[in-house]
Amino acid sequence: MGKVKITSEFDRTADITLYEGDCLDLLRSIPDEFVKLVITSPPYNLGKSYENRLDMNEYLAQQRRVVEECVRVLASRGSICWQVGNYVDNSEIIPLDIVLYPIFASLGLHLRNRIVWHFGHGLHASKRFSGRYEVILWFTKTNDYTFDLDAIRVPQKYPNKKYFKGPKKGELSGNPLGKNPGDVWEIPNVKANHVEKTIHPCQFPVELIERLVLSMTEENDWVLDPFIGVGTTAVAALMHNRKAIGAEIMPEYVQNAKERIRLAEKGALRIRPMGRSVYDPKSPKISVPPQIIQLGVVPRQIELLEQHKQYTVQGRNE
Ligand SMILES: C[S@@+](CC[C@H](N)C(=O)[O-])C[C@H]1O[C@@H](n2cnc3c(N)ncnc32)[C@H](O)[C@@H]1O
Repeated sequence: MGKVKITSEFDRTADITLYEGDCLDLLRSIPDEFVKLVITSPPYNLGKSYENRLDMNEYLAQQRRVVEECVRVLASRGSICWQVGNYVDNSEIIPLDIVLYPIFASLGLHLRNRIVWHFGHGLHASKRFSGRYEVILWFTKTNDYTFDLDAIRVPQKYPNKKYFKGPKKGELSGNPLGKNPGDVWEIPNVKANHVEKTIHPCQFPVELIERLVLSMTEENDWVLDPFIGVGTTAVAALMHNRKAIGAEIMPEYVQNAKERIRLAEKGALRIRPMGRSVYDPKSPKISVPPQIIQLGVVPRQIELLEQHKQYTVQGRNE
């Protein structure tokens, strides 16, 4: 890959647009049906440094305006992944996916999965159970959509398990390419000791976005994140030869996003690799080290590929 072309206004000849300002202004400059995937984590209306806490109806009206534009710019085989947690007020929670779902449904989108992203660390609650998951609502624009399951399979629990009776007796019972990752994903969130930690208080882990990019887009497709923060969506897209468009209102996050992309370009950005298991204190030595990525060099899924060597392909289940 040559030098990554980053622009600050929408430009179809760029590899990435990083717009510093309100996402609605950027969205209005993108042509209809241009992007294959929208992945984002919007503000949760919690009064963080980058947001003003709004009345819930006002918040939902603001989200609707952004979602409407995202639907307009989405290709017919495209997907929208809206990653949210809870709005919390006086220890009472409102799960944002529940209140946002009607917006997407009213725009004719089809919900394919409600993915539960489970992680081990977060605030310790004292008046309720500590929250340890958030969700990703995955919608498609139509019933004919891109989904490459083989690109994101994970190792089978018992890879050598065989049928013990019937016409397939002796053949492997699971798909030798690995199994479907399911709709509950255990991926560490980016806290202080995470290798990807930046100045942002709630950035995506790259591996979470890689799984969505690899399964829902093809090479050279465009991935849009209207609330891009420190550019994680762009890093994951560029790593796999996709192009990215994002908006962010906080100048320091835009700057950080650019720095991460330049580091990745030089082969100096460290990320937690996909397929690395969650740290287990009982087996501290079983750990895959951080991966140093270089744009244009597609990373290997080490664990999955090494297990392949043990199998012979007999046919697929899915
Ligand atoms: C939950 S964070 C997203 C973090 C991002 N996923 C990452 O990996 O860094 C939401 C981001 O949206 C930005 N933001 C809030 N309102 C915005 C708006 N109207 N337009 C663009 N960005 C906005 C915030 O500054 C914040 O960085």
